[in-house]
Amino acid sequence: MTGVQRLKLTAAVLAGTAGSAGAADVEVLHWWTSGGEAAALNVLKQDLEGQGIGWQDMPVAGGGGEQAMTVLRARVTAGDAPTAVQMLGFDIKDWAAEGALADLNAVAAKEGWDAVVPDALKAFAKDDGKWVSAPVNVHSTNWVWANKAVLDANGLSVPETWEDFTAAVETLAAAGVTPIAHGGQAWQDATIFDAVVMSTGGPDLYTSAFIDLAAEALGSAEMVEAFERMAFIRAHVDDNFSGRDWNLATAMVINGEAAFQMMGDWAKGEFLNADKVPGQDFLCFRFPGTQAQVTFNADQFAMFDQGGAVSGEQAALASAILSPTFQSAFNVVKGSVPARTDVSNEAFDDCGKKGMADLAAAASSGNLFGSMAHGHSAPASVKNAIYDVVTAHFNGEYDAETAAEELVTAVEIAQ
Ligand code: GAL
Repeated sequence: MTGVQRLKLTAAVLAGTAGSAGAADVEVLHWWTSGGEAAALNVLKQDLEGQGIGWQDMPVAGGGGEQAMTVLRARVTAGDAPTAVQMLGFDIKDWAAEGALADLNAVAAKEGWDAVVPDALKAFAKDDGKWVSAPVNVHSTNWVWANKAVLDANGLSVPETWEDFTAAVETLAAAGVTPIAHGGQAWQDATIFDAVVMSTGGPDLYTSAFIDLAAEALGSAEMVEAFERMAFIRAHVDDNFSGRDWNLATAMVINGEAAFQMMGDWAKGEFLNADKVPGQDFLCFRFPGTQAQVTFNADQFAMFDQGGAVSGEQAALASAILSPTFQSAFNVVKGSVPARTDVSNEAFDDCGKKGMADLAAAASSGNLFGSMAHGHSAPASVKNAIYDVVTAHFNGEYDAETAAEELVTAVEIAQ
């Protein structure tokens, strides 16, 4: 018997409805395959199993979800859409525009989602007044993760500004420590770029370049400066960075092989999975110069229309995801913060509490922006065009001036 068959059987027995419609499974396509991500996903699987709903796992490895989206397209083209799919930002809007997503309004109305889900998430979860996906969490990309013992050993404290940061990096390099753990994959380069652009040009540059896609901003002197800063970062990663998965870069910080990683707060899931404690073993802080801003990405589960009304299993999955207890239990493990505004921060560690406070403050002060790297500032075509330029520059194909020029052209063509 395969694992999937065993799960189905267990679910059917639990529900006491073997052979009837109530024993159906949900097939979930996702890219949560690292240790920390899998631990968080288990919280959801167990929640559903407790309700007698079987889980058919469809993992597609690849941080950021690009590969998962390719597999999804192939499945839908073949007329075999999964029940539920992990999805980000503009991808949800694209699938909704194709009419592929089921209508979750009944469950949303029954459970009062409109009152508790922040507008920034509703902008993607709702299409034309219709709920089409269930928000799981809010992550953000402008974080730095640091090994505390490594900083202490080198007499370093948390850098507040870009200049503090470059000074710390140079101190570490002079001491023979790898300053920055990084995985050379386009989405990881772009994740750093979110924070570097925000830090270099503030919300004005970020908004004009990544949300308004304005050529003057994309090709500006500040953008050239942002690329110069990326080159500094590239000069301070180890020799084996190319192609490395993000969680292996996190492991370098966990193990004291490197000092810093610039990565979204899914990195915290890896620290926790390795039994590390924030404030003692590792530090979390906003990328220097972006302390007031949050560049967010929210994982959502979009439900694919299976031909007819939303199924009982889809409604149960959506309902489980939005329940306040699940929102706390899952996000504590995942490193993200709840997708509802009414969940207590009590169960969260210090980084989680900071994440929740930062999100609320950024939302009320107009400092909350969708992450370019994770599909929340522009559609995938534009995102991918930016990825190409950022990665080509990171790998030395362009100097900073040329990169900014290429960015203008690439974004223009992608629209
Ligand atoms: C992001 C996603 C996170 C995390 C990360 C790395 O796009 O929002 O939940 O999974 O990719 O895989």
